[in-house]
Amino acid sequence: MTDLRVKLCGVELKNPVIPASGTFGFGREFDEIYDISLLGAVATKGLTLLPRLGNAVPRIAESRGVILNAVGLQNPGVEAFIEKDLSWLRSKTRVVANVAGSTLSDYEKICARLDGLVDFLELNISCPNVKCGGMAFGIRPEDVKEVTHVAKEAIRKTPLMVKLSPNVESISRNARAAEEGGADCISLVNTFTGMAVDIERRRPILANNTGGVSGAGILPIALRMVYEVAHAVSLPVVGMGGITCAEDAVAFLMAGATAVQVGTANFTNTRACPEIIEGLAEWCDRHGVREVSELTGTLKMN
Ligand SMILES: Cc1cc2nc3c(=O)[nH]c(=O)nc-3n(C[C@H](O)[C@H](O)[C@H](O)COP(=O)(O)O)c2cc1C
Repeated sequence: MTDLRVKLCGVELKNPVIPASGTFGFGREFDEIYDISLLGAVATKGLTLLPRLGNAVPRIAESRGVILNAVGLQNPGVEAFIEKDLSWLRSKTRVVANVAGSTLSDYEKICARLDGLVDFLELNISCPNVKCGGMAFGIRPEDVKEVTHVAKEAIRKTPLMVKLSPNVESISRNARAAEEGGADCISLVNTFTGMAVDIERRRPILANNTGGVSGAGILPIALRMVYEVAHAVSLPVVGMGGITCAEDAVAFLMAGATAVQVGTANFTNTRACPEIIEGLAEWCDRHGVREVSELTGTLKMN
């Protein structure tokens, strides 16, 4: 039987499968469908210091092989999360707290608040930065380095995962900037900016006009980026983007990921994560792989 355990920044996960931020709430609804303690970890919905209502509706649109979302960080705020969900979630599995802010000080405060309370802090740096006139923290390498540094300075105990936006000139350069800023590991990819149009109304479907594209259709681009980043930094990498089955997860591990996150697939198949965990064990058994961690970075280029 394959050993599915992996170590990420010194923290042991029972397997490398993590539902991605924003697609799993805080796990309660999914725990009614299956026991979420089966999961390697859970990444929470993006948390901010204060509660947020998110964007106007419609904020989800379907397209071929992908969805677009402009949920806009709707969340109950970090204090409500700590009070209502954190100890329950931690009793189940490892917790990746996905955090966001509009200023450097927001990132500093939320990281300090969650330090030592969660297993990983995942910095969502795709949010508009008030100081930079609305441009996200995750676009320019110098901003990536700065926000990472500020977050890292605010924490003592919890490893820092920096989640990269793919909407950039060079994702490898931004990964290196996060490494220079003090990141302990990198996760990627966040969503690709896109648009869906209602041709009868001659208007974008999303009230926000544009949204983040995710789901099966983005997999080849995400996989290429994970491969590039895994070779650009000496940090562990958590890969995601379009994973729907165990074979997809194997490809990301081979491309250099230590663990994977599964997002949009949770919407189309609520049991996607446990099926991927089971499928990973079966794939490894069939291929004589004794420890799933042996797969990481084994891709050979032609
Ligand atoms: C509805 C929705 C909400 C999301 N919310 C967040 C979020 O709060 N923070 C974040 O870092 N990523 C968020 N994401 C991005 C996902 O975590 C993931 O990076 C992306 O969807 C790509 O993976 P996938 O193709 O498996 O869905 C969200 C994605 C979706 C579809």
